[in-house]
Amino acid sequence: MSADGSTNSPPPGARADWTIDQGWDAYSEAEHQVWITLYERQAALLPGRACDPFLKGLEALDLHRTGIPDFVRINTELNRLTGWSVVAVPGLVPDDVFFDHLANRRFPAGQFIRKPDQLDYLQEPDIFHDVFGHVPMLTDPVFADYMQAYGRGGQRAMQLGRLHNLARLYWYTVEFGLLQTPQGVRIYGAGIVSSRAESIFALDDPSPNRLGFELERVMRTPYRIDDFQQVYFVIPSLQALLDATLQDFAPIYDRLSRASDIAIERIETNDLVITEGTQAYALSRAAAAQ
Ligand code: PHE
Ligand code: FE
Repeated sequence: MSADGSTNSPPPGARADWTIDQGWDAYSEAEHQVWITLYERQAALLPGRACDPFLKGLEALDLHRTGIPDFVRINTELNRLTGWSVVAVPGLVPDDVFFDHLANRRFPAGQFIRKPDQLDYLQEPDIFHDVFGHVPMLTDPVFADYMQAYGRGGQRAMQLGRLHNLARLYWYTVEFGLLQTPQGVRIYGAGIVSSRAESIFALDDPSPNRLGFELERVMRTPYRIDDFQQVYFVIPSLQALLDATLQDFAPIYDRLSRASDIAIERIETNDLVITEGTQAYALSRAAAAQ
């Protein structure tokens, strides 16, 4: 993800496009061990939970062997499969920089890895979230096209002043998306697959709503960045997601400028309800915070 709209310049040592060298040789044994621990936890949990394109991508990129993956090695295979590459950045990058990378089939990934006491949660996306979470889906040709189109869409949304609407689409698809399959609902969102607890919560917990994906509806729904989601949107296929976003968003943005937001826990009469959540988890967290 990207930071909010600022047009600051790259930090010292970074290039004009905010990229840096990954510096793979400089990772310590302890840092590789954090990757391996996280990898093994998720690899054991995700079969039957993550969608097939994700699991296939994970295999194809062979992400686990030596601990933290070397981007040079990942990029050989990723480039061959879909023309994407991963580039290292120091952390969050400005929106315009982020969109420019995506529009050119480059995925900016954090170079650093979380500390051993942050296995379950950290605020900023690290290399485990960015590479384990995001990169496997980029081996899928349809998803690869979606991400590039999103980059172009981001540039346009900035010009049209509707980035807050488009960011919700990213959040509820790329980060927290679920996919309907003949075998059941599966995960494709990077924010879910890179989190042990949310990989279980998103599919199994009775608390959140799970609703059929509808583009404008999603763009009217705020999201929470600090806890499990209260609503997940389920796409019928990756192709359906791509198809829905190929249309011109200008008329949609125009309607959105006159439409109100939909409260995060709300179910609308037109929603396709896959699970009506109890919201018990969100309510208990809100009560505990009193
Ligand atoms: N079609 C969108 C537009 O006209 C661009 C876009 C594509 C946005 C894919 C998101 C995802 O702005
Ligand atoms: Fe992310």
